[in-house]
Amino acid sequence: MSDRLIIFDTTLRDGEQSPGASMTKEEKLRIARQLERMRVDVIEAGFAASSEGDFQAIRAIASEVKDSIVCSLARANERDISRAAEALKPASRSRIHTFIATSALHMEKKLRMSPDQVYEQARRAVCLARGYTDDVEFSPEDGSRSDLDFLCRVIEGVIDEGATTINVPDTVGYAVPDGYAALIRELRERIPNSARAVFSVHCHDDLGLAVANSLAAVKSGGARQIECAINGLGERAGNTALEEVVMAVRTRRDVFGLDVRVDTTQIVEASRLVSEITGFTVQPNKAVVGANAFAHASGIHQDGVLKARDTYEIMRAEDVGWSANKIVLGKLSGRSAFKQRLQELGVEIDSEAELNAAFVRFKALADQEAIVSDDAIVALSQQGKVADATGSPL
Ligand code: KIV
Ligand code: ZN
Repeated sequence: MSDRLIIFDTTLRDGEQSPGASMTKEEKLRIARQLERMRVDVIEAGFAASSEGDFQAIRAIASEVKDSIVCSLARANERDISRAAEALKPASRSRIHTFIATSALHMEKKLRMSPDQVYEQARRAVCLARGYTDDVEFSPEDGSRSDLDFLCRVIEGVIDEGATTINVPDTVGYAVPDGYAALIRELRERIPNSARAVFSVHCHDDLGLAVANSLAAVKSGGARQIECAINGLGERAGNTALEEVVMAVRTRRDVFGLDVRVDTTQIVEASRLVSEITGFTVQPNKAVVGANAFAHASGIHQDGVLKARDTYEIMRAEDVGWSANKIVLGKLSGRSAFKQRLQELGVEIDSEAELNAAFVRFKALADQEAIVSDDAIVALSQQGKVADATGSPL
């Protein structure tokens, strides 16, 4: 089995389905350029048949992006597939991603189709898509809630028609890691022609499990593609966050044993761009890309990090695109972080007594203000030398 993990970014498609996150063609192009710079394997640029605007955006991205595969979503019907193919025409490498729901609930209540009809339509869609490109992905929508025997039948059928990637969505974010990993493993083991396709995962975050589900399916299920979005953007509670799965696989290579092609130093820039364009701010404590992801406020942690970064950091801030980690001075900070900041600011302190006095003044101020600014630190350290410094430093 391959030891490469394919990163399929759907910020511009599923991400855009996030209420309030719609993007113009120009905005999509800017994000696509950054995704290419970041070396994601596949960019799902949109859903060509959904609107003229999306069609044009996919076309523009397909004309410009050369290094990543450009993909369009298409329902399993002739019009959607031909619109996707038309939009993707200028691409160096293109993929059509076609889907139809396979759960009893969706087939009966939403599609109003019988399982046999869905089976036939899925096969026909893949066959049509293969007429345009040899890179065809098929998704059984609501796959994680579908009947296993039926799912096996549909997937075997579409692989026979030439689907090269089988993506099994947890459309409503209902799966849990063990069960989802077992599902992917079972599909790969039971379906006779499964080795002819790459198995992929696409998880929603309704229960906060999208990243855990995706990683479990990779580790124990044998999936080799993860569908994900920058900042975890996506329908409802969002999709698997690209930055989290990429950094998990990189940082824990000992666990996953897989290579990813992504240039991780471009992650923070991608996150900022998506946030700026969509207006969705990133919470400070968000893993990898949150403002506090590499910031230290407590004295004990600051002291540790100043002595050896790996005491409290498992990744380097610079490796994901931050200029550096951050020591934030506030009421929990200790003397060593304070002293280090004075040195960084070029403040000259003549004696330990002077340092102690400045530190006491700093602690008093920090009790009033959550974060003490560099200007305030310079000012308080220049309030004259205090010979009778009292108060013992931490
Ligand atoms: O969540 C989902 O099921 C999807 C499919 C179209 C892949 O986004
Ligand atoms: Zn989705």
